[in-house]
Amino acid sequence: MSKLAILGGTPIRTIDFPNRKSMGREELEAAQRVLESDILSGFVGVAGNFFNGGTEVRSFENKWANEYGFKHGISVNSWTTGLQVAVGAIGIEPGDEVICSPYTMSASATSVLFYGGIPVFADIDRDRYTLDPKSVEEKITPRTKAILVVHLFGYPADMDAIMAIAKRHNLRVIEDAAQAPGVLYKNRPVGAIGDIGGFSLNFHKHIHTGEGGLLVTQNDDLALRSQLIRNHGENATEAYGVSDISNTIGSNYRFTEIQAAIAIEQFKKLKGFLNHRKNIGAYLTARLNNIDGLSVQHLEEGSTHSYYMFPIRYNEEVFGIPRNLFLRAVSAELPKPNYWDTTPLAEAYVKPLYLNPVYQQKIAIGKKGFPFNMNPGIEYDYSKGLCPVTEKLYEKELMISPLVREGISLDDISDFANAIEKTIENINDLKSAKHLISESSELYDAAKAIEDNVKK
Ligand SMILES: Cc1ncc(COP(=O)(O)O)c(C=O)c1O
Repeated sequence: MSKLAILGGTPIRTIDFPNRKSMGREELEAAQRVLESDILSGFVGVAGNFFNGGTEVRSFENKWANEYGFKHGISVNSWTTGLQVAVGAIGIEPGDEVICSPYTMSASATSVLFYGGIPVFADIDRDRYTLDPKSVEEKITPRTKAILVVHLFGYPADMDAIMAIAKRHNLRVIEDAAQAPGVLYKNRPVGAIGDIGGFSLNFHKHIHTGEGGLLVTQNDDLALRSQLIRNHGENATEAYGVSDISNTIGSNYRFTEIQAAIAIEQFKKLKGFLNHRKNIGAYLTARLNNIDGLSVQHLEEGSTHSYYMFPIRYNEEVFGIPRNLFLRAVSAELPKPNYWDTTPLAEAYVKPLYLNPVYQQKIAIGKKGFPFNMNPGIEYDYSKGLCPVTEKLYEKELMISPLVREGISLDDISDFANAIEKTIENINDLKSAKHLISESSELYDAAKAIEDNVKK
């Protein structure tokens, strides 16, 4: 048994993990083609041929929609705005409650606030990291209008159970599939299993255009309402014969022609990227599968994982040292990251959303408490302890790795697994390193890892 690097031994690996490289000649040529055309946006903010964008935008939307059998694809300038569009399109009004996951990127819940809706947080499932249907059902009130489900890390949420609840209670379902492009849930592509949903094209996603997103839906009415919100809908409701004009005042959430041209090239690479991640993820799963004290995700028949992150659940009781020390010991065996994508492990993911000031102080829009004060006599509970599974994952259990991705080979990921195995073989040395244990109280979460490792 060789000595752990954190205790002065030789590390498993010193050669840097490769960075992610996403853009190639194809994207360059596509962007150049648009630049030379001089038409950088095809949108005009009035009804007519240009209301839904130019040729690149429409081509991109159709390509993605056709490939996965979505009736409509609607590009947006970010998935944050895409979520706002979705919330508006399904008709959320001030005071409506929307059941949200507390363990996700903040926009998954704040999108509700933009229409005066109130996020009500249900707990998540300990294995899927997505909304726990039982907890969702417990949170339903006469004011509940929708469930906003997130396919976190690219693992599909339990859509059969969520859709059954939605049907029973007459609720709309929005799918935040930001991290799950091309993912299948029981052979069905996620995104439009519910009423409306979509994907992020931000810089960190599998395929990207710097910023951007794509809404998808099978519903003609929701598609039209989304297109209105995306592009100054107030100018176009009459022309499109929209009688219920609520929530159709629009903004400018338009995707540019350059972004769309790049997106078309990126989209061609999506299945290859997903396949690579699947192979790396399967290898890592096999290596970590039988380790007592670590849990990895398993897939249902017909479902896939995009491995936006590779989550590993850690059991402190089994190992007898805090998660932070385990993470530091594994990291010491590996090259120091020079970028978020080369960070071997981060603790947790994000702070449970309801612990943020917006919910703690119930101040979102203006200073008077809107929209949390919309339902007289109802006090919304965002106190610590609200979602115990989520809090335990955040505080003690969850580790995530961004290493399951393009550019990483089986040899690279094998070094990562070796570092974990070596740490476990030498766990007793860590248990007796009292000075290290006392230094291991600071949370090294994804935000901290990004802050430390992304090139300045
Ligand atoms: C789950 C989830 N929802 C929403 C978003 C927001 O997407 P965007 O950055 O494209 O606005 C992200 C982005 O990280 C995300 O991961």
